[in-house]
Amino acid sequence: MRRCDVAALLLVAMVAAACRAGAASRDLLVVCTGLKTACATACYASGYSYYSYDCNKDNCRCSNSAVKKCFPGSATVRLRGGERKPMAQLALGDEVQTVGPDGMLRYDKVYLFSSRRPHELASFVRVVTAAANVTATPSHYVYARRAGTAQQSLPAGLAGWELLPAGELRLGDAVLVAHDGQAAPVPAVVTGIEVASDVGVYNPHTRAGAIVVDGVVASELTRFVPRWAAHPYLLRATTAALHAAFAVLPHSADAPIAAMLSGLAHGRPGDAIVDRNAFLHAPTSVLA
Ligand SMILES: *[C@@H]1O[C@H](CO)[C@@H](O)[C@H](O)[C@H]1NC(C)=O
Repeated sequence: MRRCDVAALLLVAMVAAACRAGAASRDLLVVCTGLKTACATACYASGYSYYSYDCNKDNCRCSNSAVKKCFPGSATVRLRGGERKPMAQLALGDEVQTVGPDGMLRYDKVYLFSSRRPHELASFVRVVTAAANVTATPSHYVYARRAGTAQQSLPAGLAGWELLPAGELRLGDAVLVAHDGQAAPVPAVVTGIEVASDVGVYNPHTRAGAIVVDGVVASELTRFVPRWAAHPYLLRATTAALHAAFAVLPHSADAPIAAMLSGLAHGRPGDAIVDRNAFLHAPTSVLA
């Protein structure tokens, strides 16, 4: 199957799945997903390595420089059983600690690396709390609350938390920290923000969409995906589209699928890898 056949099939599957799952009020996201894919396709076809697409302005830009990155090779995740593993050694299919939409800790398989570049030197911010420090590129989202946020009326679970880029956190903001032996993460106040250089750029993805890195609850997305689009609805639509795609496409489609997911996640298709078995045989499902 040719690459553009695969892309076209995937697009149809994604739009079909999104339409089936979505209410009328969500049509904007469906349309935008399609336009974004068209933007990516046009940029790659013209020989560019990256693209950015502003859904609100219908503005497609191609470029050759990476802007959005993720976690360094030294950042750790927690495996089922308690062992900690650095990103540099993490593999597809590993079961890592995540947070479900209900706000409870659980374990999900890593089914995609949208980035995995062991040798790249990058700038990171280290977000320091009394209990845990997380290191991520400034554009990577973490679940956080601004200092002084009134909490009485906030919804339970992750819905009561904002996605803030790590680089925009300020002293006094709160992040969510997972402590050993507890069922849910608890708020911790940011007491320091440091800038650090580190090696490796890794972005693992699970079906939960919220991975615990260095003990802190982080998103699996960067600012490349606008905050309004980084909605659980997008996660459900992507999950449904992937189920549809894996059901009809041969294993030879996995590399283009990984590239497309990576393109959607941060505009760079180059080094993505996907494991359809880890996706299809997820130990827990986020689909309600
Ligand atoms: C977090 O970073 C601070 C400041 O760099 C350091 O003193 C502290 O030991 C770190 N804590 C953890 C849990 O790594």
